[in-house]
Amino acid sequence: MRKKVTKAVFPVAGMGTRFLPATKSVPKEIMTLVDRPLIQYAIDEARAAGIKEFILVTSRGKGALEDFFDHAPTLEAELRKKGKDELLNIVKNTNMESGAIAYIRQHKALGLGHAVWCAKRLIGNEPFAVILPDDVIAAEKPCLQQMVEAFEETQGNIVAAMEVPEDKASAYGILDVKDDMGSMVSVKGMVEKPAKGEAPSNLAVIGRYILTPKVLQNLNKMKSGAGGEIQLTDAIAAEINEGRDVFGFRFNGTRFDCGSKAGFLQATVSFALSRPDLKDELSRYLHEVVALENAAE
Ligand code: G1P
Repeated sequence: MRKKVTKAVFPVAGMGTRFLPATKSVPKEIMTLVDRPLIQYAIDEARAAGIKEFILVTSRGKGALEDFFDHAPTLEAELRKKGKDELLNIVKNTNMESGAIAYIRQHKALGLGHAVWCAKRLIGNEPFAVILPDDVIAAEKPCLQQMVEAFEETQGNIVAAMEVPEDKASAYGILDVKDDMGSMVSVKGMVEKPAKGEAPSNLAVIGRYILTPKVLQNLNKMKSGAGGEIQLTDAIAAEINEGRDVFGFRFNGTRFDCGSKAGFLQATVSFALSRPDLKDELSRYLHEVVALENAAE
């Protein structure tokens, strides 16, 4: 029987050191692109893909994430009283159904694979999605929805994939391609953060996965890999060795690396320019800045 994907795991335990001092007291995932926190983009993408259960793997100091998805009766009553219906709707859209969102702590920073493993009792024995909120993907059809549709056909593990420049490959999980079928590629191996010159291709894993529960059994072995961490990439690669399918999926959309400052700024500008209420003013400003820069050269 074909299985549907209804659960998604959001690893949000990282300390976000690249954004210090902001992340000293604010979880990285609460940082906003225009006016919505990173985590909301991830949750909304999952909802659009038909996800019903949301599992956040957190750590100490991430309480703001729980508050964000809680109902806010005082704020809602105030907005209602003042007739601010539009804002009220915006706030209500962040409310999660009772019981739909669960938080589980990763007690030690042992890596992405370990973070996903921490959610294993909540995932149970069914296929599940993983979304890394750092990777924000702007797309007409949300990326995870594209992948869920692909999974309905293949029923094998699927990772989002994108070509990256050769000198950037060592920042990613890289696919060793068996067959390139266009938007789908079948994979014969995966390497997490390959050393310079050792990447098997320039096709990198981007933070969206649909995985079969066997991957959790591979994670049970708790072998540490690149950077001394338990890597999700290694547990997926183990699937291939055991004869199960792994596919890379070239999604349609633009990916922003919001784990880096430059990527975060690019996403901010791009999302702001796509907003009718901000587009004209921001675009005028950007043109002025560029003209000034050019004049100074
Ligand atoms: C993680 C994964 C890596 C993937 C990347 C995508 O790495 O381990 O395989 O390519 O996300 O953003 P991180 O960026 O957390 O080091």
